[in-house]
Amino acid sequence: MVHNEEELLRSLLQINHHLPRTATPLLVVANLSKRYGRMLAVDQLSFKVAGGEIVGLVGANGAGKTTVLRCCVGILRPTTGTITINGYDIVQQEQQAKQQLAFVPELPSLYPLLTVEEQIEFIVRTYGPLPPDFAERRRAMLQRFDLWSQRHKLTTNLSKGMRQKTAVVAAFLHGARVLLLDEPLIGIDPAGIRQLKELVLEARNEGCALLVSTHLLDTAERLCDRILMLQGGRKRAEGTLADLRQTLVRHENATLEEVFMELSAAQEPT
Ligand SMILES: Nc1ncnc2c1ncn2[C@@H]1O[C@H](COP(=O)(O)OP(=O)(O)OP(=O)(O)O)[C@@H](O)[C@H]1O
Ligand SMILES: [Mg+2]
Repeated sequence: MVHNEEELLRSLLQINHHLPRTATPLLVVANLSKRYGRMLAVDQLSFKVAGGEIVGLVGANGAGKTTVLRCCVGILRPTTGTITINGYDIVQQEQQAKQQLAFVPELPSLYPLLTVEEQIEFIVRTYGPLPPDFAERRRAMLQRFDLWSQRHKLTTNLSKGMRQKTAVVAAFLHGARVLLLDEPLIGIDPAGIRQLKELVLEARNEGCALLVSTHLLDTAERLCDRILMLQGGRKRAEGTLADLRQTLVRHENATLEEVFMELSAAQEPT
């Protein structure tokens, strides 16, 4: 019997320890750089996310988090470097790569004249034929996110949080192996946040690779297996909280927020 969120998260975390991790990383970013005109937003960034792993992407406003995520999902073309999704190159093998991934953007763009149900079906169909149990699973997800009563509403009439939840439901319904979420917890109500955290842990326990950008460092600390910190488009730190603590002079029991503040204050090596 699960009594509270902490306990639930802990029980989900324990399940994961018994599962084998995928040997091959599902997301591989190698020497990624991205320029907007003369502005270098991401600079020679490399990292991997394995199956069964949640990596938290953190960094100040403008650090490059959204740019990295948009490159990973094929919305932006890298200036240099490569990105592979479950072995498929996002530029050279775009279609196969995109079939393996799901993305929840900062501001989901939905078709205004589709209902919530139709919008979700539309997104899932873009990845292939609907699974036979689609209607059932969509219903369960809509109920989970308290959207069932809104299912016939046009997306143009949704509140901000409802839009976010609709995008989340669609992203988690098409069997993606790699999930990329850009600030997914912003704008969602507490019950929705709890559901989303559970969903993220369930996906991890099923062997998915998850890359989640967030400014909520206490949540990142509890939810993520590893943290990737960006500063000015470069990797500032990467590892478990224990790894990151080691970079500090006084590191005992430092929270992720404390680590983040200290690393942010220290000048990045040039
Ligand atoms: N379309 C664009 N054209 C020009 N510059 C851009 C564009 N998009 C982002 N940038 C710049 O690239 C840098 C990285 O932006 P990005 O949106 O990736 O940051 P972020 O880490 O997601 O920030 P936030 O925490 O505010 O969401 C910033 O300096 C930003 O101004
Ligand atoms: Mg962003």
